[in-house]
Amino acid sequence: MAQPSEPVTLFYKESGQGLPVVLLHGFPFDQCIWQAQRDVLSDTFRVITPDLRGHGQSPAPDGTYYMDVLAGDVIALLDSLGIERAVWVGHSMGGYVVMAALRTAPERVMGVGLVATHPYADTAEKRLQRLKSATLALNEGAASLALGMMSILFAPAVNRKSLMAQGIYHVMVHTPPVGIAGALRGMAERPDSLKTLCDASVPVAIMAGEDDQIVTPETSRQVARTIPASLVFIADAGHMPMVEQPGATTSALRTFLTSLDAR
Ligand code: MLT
Repeated sequence: MAQPSEPVTLFYKESGQGLPVVLLHGFPFDQCIWQAQRDVLSDTFRVITPDLRGHGQSPAPDGTYYMDVLAGDVIALLDSLGIERAVWVGHSMGGYVVMAALRTAPERVMGVGLVATHPYADTAEKRLQRLKSATLALNEGAASLALGMMSILFAPAVNRKSLMAQGIYHVMVHTPPVGIAGALRGMAERPDSLKTLCDASVPVAIMAGEDDQIVTPETSRQVARTIPASLVFIADAGHMPMVEQPGATTSALRTFLTSLDAR
């Protein structure tokens, strides 16, 4: 259960008008991963991309970033923008935050988009590994974690020296170690959210990289079958479909958002 925590004021970018859509980045990235989607989808939708607590240009307080707390920060941002309900789309850890919002404040959520993420809690082994990585990041800096992640983030065919891959590496190494540690501790504490998704009274759409080594296609299929939810695989993409295949990811999001706008 999350400890009470005052929301922090998040850095964000916003474009467009219409149905409000909030796009949440994963760990340890920032809002810039959604730039291609924000630029294009803002022709029809009001697209808001925050930096979650501890990431990008948002404050990075010490502590454990429980997913409920990260969701509370986003709700405070939506309050400040006068937005009562939004479509919440989350990538990986951002997806865990979306599920936390659905659990704690379902009245604020009018649709759920899950990109390269899943609802399951960590195993005991994974939890331990996260706590060790938190200590490592605090002692040795963000690069210790970023280098390891580079080998599994993208589809195998992606050139790790490409501008796209190096841009993502740059984002990871600039994430403050205290933010990395807070997020790792928070993810380790997150509850299983499968029931929350199954009980959701709003549409759920899953978008997944066909070559994702972190959230495997089989996991995405299993989750989609269980909820049930729509499922779109993005070809030639790993864990970062929004930057590996920006056009296909934007199209999948547009299809989902248009279906919600028509309701
Ligand atoms: C992410 O991309 O946000 C991470 O892979 C999530 C996780 O470590 O569970």
